[in-house]
Amino acid sequence: MSILTREQGRRTVKFMADYRDVYRRSLADPETFWLKAARAVDWVTPPSRALDDSAAPLYRWFPDGELNTAYNCLDRHVATGRGGQTALIWDSAMTGQVRRFTYEQLQDQVARFAGGLRSLGVGVGDRVVIYMPMVPEAVIAMLACARIGAIHSVVFGGFAPRELAARIDDAAPKAIVAASCGLEPNRTVEYRPIIDQALSLSRHRPDVIVMLQRDQGVARMDERDVDWFELMSTASPADPVPMKATDPLYILYTSGTTGRPKGIVRDTGGHAVALAWSMLNVYDIAPGEVWWTASDVGWVVGHSYIVYAPLLIGATTVLYEGKPVGTPDAGAFWRVVAEHGVVTLFTAPTALRAIKRVDPDGTLIGDLKTFRALYLAGERLDPDTYHWASERLGVPVVDHWWQTETGWPIAANPRGLEPLPTKPGSATVPLPGWDVQIQNDGAITLKLPLPPGSLPTLWHDDERYIREYLTRHPGHYLTGDGGYLDDDGYLYVMGRTDDVINVAGHRLSTGTMETVLAAHPAVAECAVIGVSDQVKGQVPLGLVVLKAGADITPARLADDLIHAVRREIGPVAAFRDVAIVPALPKTRSGKILRRSMRALADGREEPMPSTIEDPSVLENLRPVLRPDPS
Ligand code: COA
Ligand code: AMP
Repeated sequence: MSILTREQGRRTVKFMADYRDVYRRSLADPETFWLKAARAVDWVTPPSRALDDSAAPLYRWFPDGELNTAYNCLDRHVATGRGGQTALIWDSAMTGQVRRFTYEQLQDQVARFAGGLRSLGVGVGDRVVIYMPMVPEAVIAMLACARIGAIHSVVFGGFAPRELAARIDDAAPKAIVAASCGLEPNRTVEYRPIIDQALSLSRHRPDVIVMLQRDQGVARMDERDVDWFELMSTASPADPVPMKATDPLYILYTSGTTGRPKGIVRDTGGHAVALAWSMLNVYDIAPGEVWWTASDVGWVVGHSYIVYAPLLIGATTVLYEGKPVGTPDAGAFWRVVAEHGVVTLFTAPTALRAIKRVDPDGTLIGDLKTFRALYLAGERLDPDTYHWASERLGVPVVDHWWQTETGWPIAANPRGLEPLPTKPGSATVPLPGWDVQIQNDGAITLKLPLPPGSLPTLWHDDERYIREYLTRHPGHYLTGDGGYLDDDGYLYVMGRTDDVINVAGHRLSTGTMETVLAAHPAVAECAVIGVSDQVKGQVPLGLVVLKAGADITPARLADDLIHAVRREIGPVAAFRDVAIVPALPKTRSGKILRRSMRALADGREEPMPSTIEDPSVLENLRPVLRPDPS
C-alpha cells in the first residue's frame, strides 16, 4: 500500500513501506528507484535516465538532466508560497546574536552575492574558496556559488595556513571569500594573517579576496580586496544558471592517509536528489519543520545538513556559532532546541560526551516540547553515551554512519521509512542505494555503483580515486572502515583500518602529523596513533625515537612537536601527547607496524604479526598505548 504522509511538499511523494522491500528495490532496480526520487527536485531538463555506467568504474547520475541547486533551495519555495517562512536561523552563542532569514530574504541575499561574484569575474566552473566561520554569510556564499555555477570549496577555520595553502593550490580558486575572524571560547581567530601566510606558501594566486568584516575583529584590506557589504550594496541580483546534473557543485577536502588532502567532488543532480530523499526517508523531516545540525560548514555534515538538505525540502535550518559546553554552559544545545522549536538535532557523539561530563544528570535539559529525535555521526556512538542521551532526552537516539565521500548516510535507522528497533553500538541498517559488504579482512566495502550524492571522483584526479578507493576490492568502493553485519543485517562500524583518526568528530590524518614530527632535528623516527579519549573519542599520540646523541629534554621536545603540529596542521589536530620510546615495532623488512600498535591502543588482542622483527618492542609499548586506568 502506498499513502501520502503528512505534508510532503510539492511533487514529493513518500511511500510508507517496509524498509527491507525499499532496500531490495533500490539495489535490484536503481534506475526506477532514483528516477522516482528525482521527482522531488525541480529540473530545467528532467533526466530521462538515472545511471550512466559507460565509464565504469566511474559512474554518473542523471546524465542528461539539468537543474540549479540554489534555485531548488530557495526560488522554488518562494514561488510556491514559502517566501515568508523562516529558512535560516543564525544563533550565535559567541556574540549573543540571533538573526532570522525568510526564504525570500535569503533568496535576495544569495542572488545579490551571486551577482557580486559575477561582477568580479567569477563564472561557471570557476572555483571559490570560502574561508569563514559559522556566520550566515558562509551559507549565502555557498548558495551564491551554486546559483552561478561556480564550484565552492569551504575550508574549516581550525586548519593552519599550510593546509589552506594545499587546498588553494589544488582547487586554484578565482576568488577567496573570507571573514575577518572566527570566535573560539578562548580567543579570536584572525583569518587575515592565516590567509596571508597561506598565500605566501601557495603557488596559485586568486584574483580577489572578498572580506566580511566582523565587529569582533577588523581585517586589513589590500587594494584589490573587496568588502562584502560594499559588494552587496552595488551588486545586481543574478538569476540561477542551469547546470548539468553531472557538473560539480563543490569540492570538499578531507584527510587521506598521505599528507595530500583529497578533493572530494560533489555533483549537482545526484546530490540534490539524494539529500532530498534522505530528509524525508531517513530523518523524517517535513517542509516547514525546524531542523538543527550542530556541526561546522567546513565539514561534510555542515554542507549536507546545515545548508543543502534542509533548504532543498523547504525546512528551517539553524546555524549555530558556539560550542556544546562553555558558551556559556552545558545547557547551550537545549536552549537552542527550546528557543527555536527544533524538531530534530544532528551532532557528533563527542558533543554529547562533553555535555554529559559537565551535566551528568541532565539538569540543564529543560522541557523540550518540540524535540522528536537526535541523530549522531562523525564517530561511533558508544553505548554509554547512547543510553545517557536516550534516558535524559526521552527521544529516539540514532547512530548513523557516513563519510565526506558519501555525502549522506550509508547506514542509519530509516525512521522516515520505517523506524526499526535500535541496537546500541550499531549504526542500524544499510540505507537504500548502498550495497554494504564485509570482506574477509573485516573491511567494509560498498559494491559499485554508489548511489546518487556520493563522490563521482576526486578533483582532477580520477586516477587517485581509482587507486585509493576502487582497486583493493575490484567492483567495490573501500570505505576505510572495518566492521561487521549481524544476523539481523545490522551494521557495526568499529573504526578506521587506515591511518585516519577521528578527534572530536574531526577527521585527521596521522600520516600528516608524522611528517611534521619527522621534520624535527632530534627525531630519528616516529609514529602517530589514535588513542581513546573519554570526550573526544580519539586523540593523537606521537611516539618518537630520538636520534643518537640528540641533546634535548623530553619536555622541550614535546613542546616543540606540539607547536609544530599546531603551526603546520592547525589547532583542530588537538595534538598534545608525545612519548619518547626506545624503538618502534617493525617488520623484518623495516616497515613500522602501525596496525599492531592501533590494535593494542584499541584494546583488541590481535595475534603478533608473523613478520614482526622483535615482539618485545611492541609489548614494551603496552603501558604507553594503553595505560592502566588506575
Ligand atoms: N577555528 C579555529 N580553531 C578551532 C576551530 C575553528 N573553527 N574549531 C576548533 N578550534 C580549535 C579549538 O579552539 C581548540 O583550540 P585550543 O587548542 O587553543 O583550545 C582546538 O581547535 C581543538 O578543538 P576541539 O577538538 O574542538 O576541542 P575543544 O576542547 O575546543 O572542544 C568539543 C571539544 C567536544 C566541545 C568540540 O570538539 C565539539 O563541539 N565537537 C563537535 C564536533 C563536530 O561538530 N564535528 C562535526 C562532525 S558531525
Ligand atoms: P568524515 O569524512 O569527516 O565525515 O569522517 C568519516 C569517518 O568518520 C568514517 O570513515 C568513520 O571512520 C567515522 N564515522 C562517521 N560516522 C560514524 C559512525 N556513526 N560510526 C562509526 N564511525 C563513524
